Amino acid sequence: MDQPIYLDYNGTTPHDPEVILVMRPFLETEFGNPSSSHWYGIRPKRAVEAARRQVAGLLGCQPEAVFFTSGGTESNNHAIKGLARSLKEKGRHLITSTVEHPAVLDVCRYLEQEGFETTFVDVDDKGMVRVDDVADAIRPETILISVMHANNEVGTIQPIDEIARIARQKGICMHTDAAQSLGKIDVDVQSMNVDMLSVAGHKLYAPKGIGALYVRKGLLPEKFCHGAGQEMGWRAGTENVMAIVGLGKACEMADCSLDYAGRHLMAMRDRLHTGLADGLTDMRLNGHPEHRLPNTLSLSFKGLEANRILEEIGLEVAASAGAACHSDTVTLSHVLEAMRVPVEWAKGTVRFSTGRMTTADQIDRAVEVVIEAVQRLRKDH
Ligand SMILES: Cc1ncc(COP(=O)(O)O)c(C=O)c1O
Repeated sequence: MDQPIYLDYNGTTPHDPEVILVMRPFLETEFGNPSSSHWYGIRPKRAVEAARRQVAGLLGCQPEAVFFTSGGTESNNHAIKGLARSLKEKGRHLITSTVEHPAVLDVCRYLEQEGFETTFVDVDDKGMVRVDDVADAIRPETILISVMHANNEVGTIQPIDEIARIARQKGICMHTDAAQSLGKIDVDVQSMNVDMLSVAGHKLYAPKGIGALYVRKGLLPEKFCHGAGQEMGWRAGTENVMAIVGLGKACEMADCSLDYAGRHLMAMRDRLHTGLADGLTDMRLNGHPEHRLPNTLSLSFKGLEANRILEEIGLEVAASAGAACHSDTVTLSHVLEAMRVPVEWAKGTVRFSTGRMTTADQIDRAVEVVIEAVQRLRKDH
């Protein structure tokens, strides 16, 4: 049986063949510890530093400002907990948005135990944070603003540079979770004006379990992991050299092909959207119509349940749900809830996300499969 068409690139991406190629020696022969001063350590050490330069190249920063982590979740934890704890004498107020990934929301909630308070700024019906709302939430004791660059569920791109400008004027640290935007749209820490930025390798054709955190020079978040002196003394633990090398290559590739990749992702996404819109009624788009990731298509099918749609299409198309229905209760995603998507629409929400490997033939088949499934379910209803 053929594998289902993969339209869940926001969930994770396949490894790029070129990424696999550069990682392979570190699985097979280059086993040395980068901290070793003997022959075996030399090439792994150089490979880690080369990867740091590749990541820095994509982010537009100095290599010394890039720290490798185990992924987006860990980077967000470092950034928020580390910064909050290091500045707790200055203030204990944080600002974030209601549509962040749990790797930000839960960290902010956890910090309440340590006496921190967080303002969760609302979004509009397109999932966009209003800059004025962030400005209004600022207090004398605010030390950190963390707003994601682009949303994983609906793709809305936030006005990070404007928020960061306000943060800088007020002397407040600005963090952004760029797990979903990196490799899809331009991410440049200088023009975005951010102090910290989180990267997740597996959204970018690199392996799972690798990521990075950009920390502006001069900023000193608390050490997250104590031990030996790896990662400039900031995150102890022998490096995952193979995955770091993979992340470096993935960033280099993203840097070289950003324009083309963006156009391809968008062409595939829009082909899917147009095809479905031509064949179905009672379907609506979630997220911002323009300020949205080029690959993300969150669609609500009125009156249906997302899990039933995914079951119907599951043998041919892999996508993800925006709501989970269990017998008589429906758990909507916090993002759709924050956007106030009416329940009869929200519970039938499916997120399709295209990627580098998506083809027009795949999209055309996916259109047929989804239309047939939705029509069948509506008839049965
Ligand atoms: C916006 C966002 N932040 C953080 C993460 C977590 O990244 P990781 O899976 O590398 O821990 C994800 C993953 O889905 C994400 O979409």
